[in-house]
Amino acid sequence: MRMKRFQTSLGVCTLSVGEGAIENRLPVLTAGRTLFIITDKTVFSAHRAFFARYFPDCTPFLLPAGEKGKSEKQLFKILKRMSALGLKRDCRVFAVGGGAVGDVGAMAAALYMRGVSLVQIPTTLLSQVDGSIGGKTAINLGAIKNAAGCFYPAFEVVADPMFLRTLPRREIKCGLGEIVKYAALDPALFTRLDDMETAALSSITFLSELVADCAFLKAEIVEEDERDEGLRRCLNLGHTTAHALELFYSLSHGESVLFGLLAETRLAADRGVCERGFADKLTALILTSIAVSPVNIPDFKRIHSALQLAKADKKNVSDGMVRLSVPVAAGEWTLFALSFEDYASETEAILREIFSK
Ligand SMILES: NC(=O)c1ccc[n+]([C@@H]2O[C@H](COP(=O)([O-])OP(=O)(O)OC[C@H]3O[C@@H](n4cnc5c(N)ncnc54)[C@H](O)[C@@H]3O)[C@@H](O)[C@H]2O)c1
Repeated sequence: MRMKRFQTSLGVCTLSVGEGAIENRLPVLTAGRTLFIITDKTVFSAHRAFFARYFPDCTPFLLPAGEKGKSEKQLFKILKRMSALGLKRDCRVFAVGGGAVGDVGAMAAALYMRGVSLVQIPTTLLSQVDGSIGGKTAINLGAIKNAAGCFYPAFEVVADPMFLRTLPRREIKCGLGEIVKYAALDPALFTRLDDMETAALSSITFLSELVADCAFLKAEIVEEDERDEGLRRCLNLGHTTAHALELFYSLSHGESVLFGLLAETRLAADRGVCERGFADKLTALILTSIAVSPVNIPDFKRIHSALQLAKADKKNVSDGMVRLSVPVAAGEWTLFALSFEDYASETEAILREIFSK
């Protein structure tokens, strides 16, 4: 297990990552506290022994799995359950699950009595490398993803590979989307992934070794810019396009990130913003990652309509211009602006060319 402490707006957050993290940290984090556990039905079924061992006296609040859990209905159900149990400000919330449980669980912890202690126990690769760190909480409002939320960093994040062993292959690929993003930002990580075959990129043993590096890198970034006003925008590599694709084609977040990163890297290379040699290597890594599990390649003939949704991304689109966080070279990135029309037509051409082969 590796540990890192970093500063957040609420104090110090401890990141405990690796084999043995649960066994080491849970007895300390649960001692002498009233606990409230939030998880989803799939995670609860897959890890009953974990819940029985560490939370023997608690009945977890069970969310529906996935995005359905990130609703105002579920958020208020959680708050009402906490209130019915008479929980006080000194209780501690454990959000045990993927990014969806983490997002809504953290929002409940932020709102209950104006904020109670939160521990994130991420159980997907995506949430271990990314979602559980950095304090962003969210629910969806109707079809609008992450439309409501606040910043509420956890007191501790405990990421143990024992959870990843029950992950379906598609969820492994989703985590890979974010790992490849970190590789674009960190040359040492890129070297470890470069030229890997699909088999290695599907191996939980191999990927588990990368979790701490990604999680610690995110911690360093959010420590400097928790509120997403500058440096943290590097974590948006590929994400403007990804968010539009995710909504329009009902792809998972991680798959959309792979397609978004692919399109935006090629676009940046075509515009001379990203070094061609690096863009080619990154593109190869993304295509190998996409092949980790079967995916229905979206019908990119309709992509112009999909990209209209990028306009809803107020952070990245204004005055008819789209602002993309794009790779420049190994470990380098920049913000790059172009007109919406150019962005949409170039992205369409790139994705249709790659996937019509
Ligand atoms: N707050 C942030 O900074 C941040 C960053 C990235 C993504 N997100 C959010 O995270 C969500 C995506 O997270 P995700 O990819 O973890 O998806 P998820 O939470 O929807 O989980 C995916 C599926 O895997 C199942 N699952 C979870 N852990 C499992 C395990 N150990 N074994 C078997 N099945 C398991 C879940 O039940 C679900 O069906 C999105 O809502 C996205 O917006 C948030």
